[in-house]
Amino acid sequence: MTLTKAPKPVRKAVFPVAGLGTRFLPATKVMPKEMLPLAGKPLIQHAVEEARAAGIEEFIFVTGRYKEMLEEHFDHQPELMNTLEARGRADLMDRLKSADLPEGSLFLTRQARPLGLGHAIWCARKLVGDEPFAILLPDDVVQAREGCLSQMMKTYEQTGGNLVAVMDVPREDTRKYGVVDPGAEDGQIVQVRGLVEKPDPARAPSTLSIIGRYILQPEVFNHLAAFDRGAGGEIQLTDAMEKLIGQQDFHAFRYDGTRYDCGSPAGFLQANLAWGLADPETAPALRAFIAWQESGKMPAAFDSSAKTGTQS
Ligand code: UTP
Repeated sequence: MTLTKAPKPVRKAVFPVAGLGTRFLPATKVMPKEMLPLAGKPLIQHAVEEARAAGIEEFIFVTGRYKEMLEEHFDHQPELMNTLEARGRADLMDRLKSADLPEGSLFLTRQARPLGLGHAIWCARKLVGDEPFAILLPDDVVQAREGCLSQMMKTYEQTGGNLVAVMDVPREDTRKYGVVDPGAEDGQIVQVRGLVEKPDPARAPSTLSIIGRYILQPEVFNHLAAFDRGAGGEIQLTDAMEKLIGQQDFHAFRYDGTRYDCGSPAGFLQANLAWGLADPETAPALRAFIAWQESGKMPAAFDSSAKTGTQS
């Protein structure tokens, strides 16, 4: 697949972070779900780093009530920096700096009422303007050699138009996802003939389901503006995207990597385990711990802070 003209570059990314995070109550009573830590970094930082690695220059947060912590996380923290410098902790200063964003690159808009993902994206329309843009849902985290959005950017060079990241799910799970009606396939790229939000497994057009990574053309805002209510009574992004099919190119992309649904308690724990097992610092203790749990025999001298989990 080759385009005659290079598509307009994607410079902006929208991060919808105005949801209520009810599945993590009471942890999310005051703290945003997107601040939950995965291997020492909040989920939102994982998403922002993935976007930066993909070349994104402008970061647009759609926030809501009690979400101020998310923007503060990306601020420079002079007091803490000074204290760490006085203590000679350059290592910790580097860790802290990893959460700084270039000045003037973070933009905020608010979604006053959590009316659904589509509505959250619509709230970013003025900041996005008339250009293609990416969307990253911070509670979807992809463990991959190359970031999921970077992979998509390369694919977008070939496809242009609209591109959504997809994975196959067990058929009984289609009711949790936006599902693709697939057309012709070319390697990892699949033509999209239709989209259905949260279909009943018996009626799902396939098991190919959209995860929280998108590259969309600004015309999607025209369809979001209709404020149509879809599945669950919410304004759904999938329904607005469906209306683009036939008017613009629309493809799905089977990314390389493993996606964790960190918006669900089990997915969040799985992600922490996966990251812990991938880190040589924590892997030995975790592996030993899992083996003990499975055998039902914990060692007599267990110390969870020891490198191997045990002293004896
Ligand atoms: P979820 O579907 O996981 O919803 O949103 P939620 O409300 O955050 O969580 P639960 O179901 O109550 O536990 C997916 C992403 O879309 C954002 C969320 O912040 C999350 O990043 N979102 C969702 C909004 O910004 N606004 C909405 O109205 C809904």
